[in-house]
Amino acid sequence: MFTFLLIFTAVLGIFPSQGFYQVPLYKIHKEPREVNDLRRELKEFKSSFWKYKLLKKTGRETLRNAFNDITNRYNRENSTTYRKDGRPLVIVYGTGQIQGQMSLDVLKIGDIEVKNQKFGEAIRETSFPFDTSITDGILGLAFPSMAENEAVPPFQNMLKQGLLEEPIFSFYLNRNMDDELGGEIVFGGMDTTLFDENSLHPIPLSRKGYWEFLMKNITTTANGGRSWCNNGCSAIADTGTSLIVGPENDITNIWKTINAEVKDDLGFVPCNKLESLPPITFNINGRAYTLEAKDYIIKMVEDKKPTCFVGFSTLPESLQRQSFWILGDVFLGKYYTVFNVKN
Ligand SMILES: *[C@@H]1O[C@H](CO)[C@@H](O)[C@H](O)[C@H]1NC(C)=O
Ligand SMILES: *[C@@H]1O[C@H](CO)[C@@H](O)[C@H](O)[C@H]1NC(C)=O
Repeated sequence: MFTFLLIFTAVLGIFPSQGFYQVPLYKIHKEPREVNDLRRELKEFKSSFWKYKLLKKTGRETLRNAFNDITNRYNRENSTTYRKDGRPLVIVYGTGQIQGQMSLDVLKIGDIEVKNQKFGEAIRETSFPFDTSITDGILGLAFPSMAENEAVPPFQNMLKQGLLEEPIFSFYLNRNMDDELGGEIVFGGMDTTLFDENSLHPIPLSRKGYWEFLMKNITTTANGGRSWCNNGCSAIADTGTSLIVGPENDITNIWKTINAEVKDDLGFVPCNKLESLPPITFNINGRAYTLEAKDYIIKMVEDKKPTCFVGFSTLPESLQRQSFWILGDVFLGKYYTVFNVKN
């Protein structure tokens, strides 16, 4: 038997491996994470974040054999349930790239056993970000149109194989680094012990590829009132993206509005000024989703020195053709999110 630590990404994973909230599989409060791990992850997130920024500047990426001491690897020779597909696979992520081939096998997540799951074996990959990643793979949760080689994504297979009670999956991402429970994913339901069900409001999808919807605007009361994404724009919800990502102009303006100091494409604020920073509101489908400074500022401690950076970032160059905002973990960490394919 193989066990893998996966990143669940509703989409593409701009910062795939460094997500703060890598959720070990299924109902993880049964097995709380080692705090040691979390610290290492955080440190790695920080160092890889800088590497990513550097990479963005130089644009250099080379592929090497997928190997890293930290992760578990799939070996088809050890699997009696492996079935051959053999078609080649290339995936370019927001950061990094993999090459490999398609195979079929049984995928087990918690008690759920998905038969005939087509997946990509990563045989070559870029060293960044995968060398520092403590996850073993990436599990996409976008719609089937986004899948490589017409593979049926795991969630759709779970539905087809009648393994779920309801056609939904739900994410709880805990942004409090000191808590033992880092998050929870439920396939086929939601965990109403973690939020008030009456506070759940549906948002219609504008397109089914990513989890894409329309956003009316983003506003703040700071400096006499500012707004972005005026007259509406598209947005996607992506658990595989750590930050909130938007067009360069808007992000630059957000940094300016909260007086962030910009270094290497990141905005920094003094950690003792968080109280004075304004809330930022996302207006979606007639409702206001507001992030306070404590929600959108990410605090890192290194050598006992706290650093605070803003959880808003610009799109990597490879994705700048995309016209949507990405509401990543900085946003989703505040709101329990149910992904529903029924309606
Ligand atoms: C898997 O197979 C390889 C050889 O193909 C062998 O070296 C390795 O020990 C096997 N691993 C397990 C867990 O059986
Ligand atoms: C933003 O959207 C809200 C909610 O629809 C609306 O009340 C507000 O006037 C809009 N603000 C701007 C600046 O467009």
